[in-house]
Amino acid sequence: MCGIVGILGNHEAAPILVDALRRLEYRGYDSAGIATIDKGRLGRRRAMGKLVNLSDLLMHEPITGKSGIGHTRWATHGAPNVVNAHPHRAKDVAVVHNGIIENYKELRDELTAAGLVFETETDTETVVQLCMSYLDEGMSPIYAAAATIDRLEGAYALCFLFDGEDDLLIAARKGSPLAIGHGDGEMYVGSDALALAPMTDKVTYLDEGDWAVITRNSLEIRDAQGKQVSREMRTIKADASSTDKGIHKHYMMKEITEQPTVLADAIGHYSNAETGAISVPGLDIDFTSVDKITMVACGTAYLACSVAKYWFEQVARIPCEVDVASEFRYREPPMSDKSIALFVSQSGETADTLAALRYCAGKVAKTVAVVNVAESSIARECDISLPIHAGVEIGVASTKAFTCQLVALAAVVISAARARGVLDAKGAQELRDALNSLPGLINQCLTRKNDIDKVTVELAKASDALFLGRGAMYPLALEGALKLKEISYIHAEGYASGELKHGPIALVDEHMPVIVMAPKDALFDKTVSNMQEVMARGGKVLLVTDQQGADAARDGVWKTIVMPPVHDMFAPILYAIPAQLIAYYTAVRKGTDVDQPRNLAKSVTVE
Ligand code: M6R
Repeated sequence: MCGIVGILGNHEAAPILVDALRRLEYRGYDSAGIATIDKGRLGRRRAMGKLVNLSDLLMHEPITGKSGIGHTRWATHGAPNVVNAHPHRAKDVAVVHNGIIENYKELRDELTAAGLVFETETDTETVVQLCMSYLDEGMSPIYAAAATIDRLEGAYALCFLFDGEDDLLIAARKGSPLAIGHGDGEMYVGSDALALAPMTDKVTYLDEGDWAVITRNSLEIRDAQGKQVSREMRTIKADASSTDKGIHKHYMMKEITEQPTVLADAIGHYSNAETGAISVPGLDIDFTSVDKITMVACGTAYLACSVAKYWFEQVARIPCEVDVASEFRYREPPMSDKSIALFVSQSGETADTLAALRYCAGKVAKTVAVVNVAESSIARECDISLPIHAGVEIGVASTKAFTCQLVALAAVVISAARARGVLDAKGAQELRDALNSLPGLINQCLTRKNDIDKVTVELAKASDALFLGRGAMYPLALEGALKLKEISYIHAEGYASGELKHGPIALVDEHMPVIVMAPKDALFDKTVSNMQEVMARGGKVLLVTDQQGADAARDGVWKTIVMPPVHDMFAPILYAIPAQLIAYYTAVRKGTDVDQPRNLAKSVTVE
């Protein structure tokens, strides 16, 4: 979603702002803009579409100055066009905003009644107009910004820049993350530490409701009650090279290819250094008294939870519920104080997941974050935070975060099963060995990526596709369908194989590719029967299975992708690789924007 940067620097700000915005591109956006102060005067440039358009505009119509703010906009209120692009400006004040001002209509009516004229339909323009009205009343910039922030309802990360003030930024955070970077006689603001990585690794995160007065040499933070507070300055690891595509054409392929390495790293973090046994540092939970696990997430993270549900129930024997955060947060489920709730999120900032966490806080025994961004809001608000160690994920389609989420969740399941006495040492060792074999198996899969590429010649011609799976492979079928639709724009659905006869089989004809994810496990024969039903109706089956499965499947399969044998429990992790590659190569053939598919944002900070 929208990305924010701000700079009080000692060099020309425009190129630095654009570079910082480039580091936020992965969040998804449809327009971009910057504002700077030069000799006390505010200047602003905005452009539709990709950042290259803003750079071109700045070549022809440069703006100078060493202080400035910048923004990548993912449209919520008002079409993605130049007028609605940020920074928004009303005479002496310019503002960039991430989030939604929920009471903007009410504020706008009030300001319109007072004679102010609005030029956009956006909620953000209300913020600048309101602030300007306070400046017109004679308030100083700091008081005007504070009075404005006080009136806002909803979610926001905001950064204000004022005409005549080249050593002042006001930043505020409620619901959307915001980091303040510390330089040498310079200060920065960013939606995340990655945006600021080339400039500084010293970052202070604003807490919920905080707002900050920033100059080149000072930072004063106040909480929602206006009380001055101090927030810890942290040294962040995000290094400037994390956003490099390396030899790859797309971040998505880079991230798919990184999986053997990051998974090995993640498994290492969840293994005891001396014994090698799976263990979860900091998991301070007595699983013998836990009566239920609730897992809440969105999108791919939700599907990781859906796989883990099978594990919690079958391996740890704990009843488990999984829900998408946007539903969970409003359905007011009764929560047991003996239960624990897990919130799984790559970004750690997903608005619905954060709201679900806030619903559960105080109602359950422990809240647990399973996140990739260790400093994120979800990580900081949960009782326990488990990092997934995937490294920065830039591609909007989540790949390595999914498999690393599954590793972290598997480690929790194994620890819980051991603690509850339902998994003996031998069983735990078997699972540990199976987990440790995954990086090598993924490597083997990756060596066969050309075979998968070839299969997509036909898939790319389809307008619809079905993915089928049984047991823990069912959520993987859903994940395969999600990946394919989000980056190739082919309509795809995932179904539990056994559900096919209850409706979706009506869709099957010779034009419908049906991708069956089925290792030769205890449920394989049942899935093969469902596959036969598809083939009998002319459906084109692409079977993803192991050699035993390929041998056992009868004639009529259109294509088979043969996977290395893997422990049943971890098949959803290994089979995620062909699901990702199928989507990737299909999208490349179709020429879509693989890393930043249309309409999507990496970090969904509004509901
Ligand atoms: O950052 P999160 O893991 O909370 O994000 C959740 C979803 O928005 C995300 O997984 C989304 O579905 C991906 N684009 C899927 O590839």
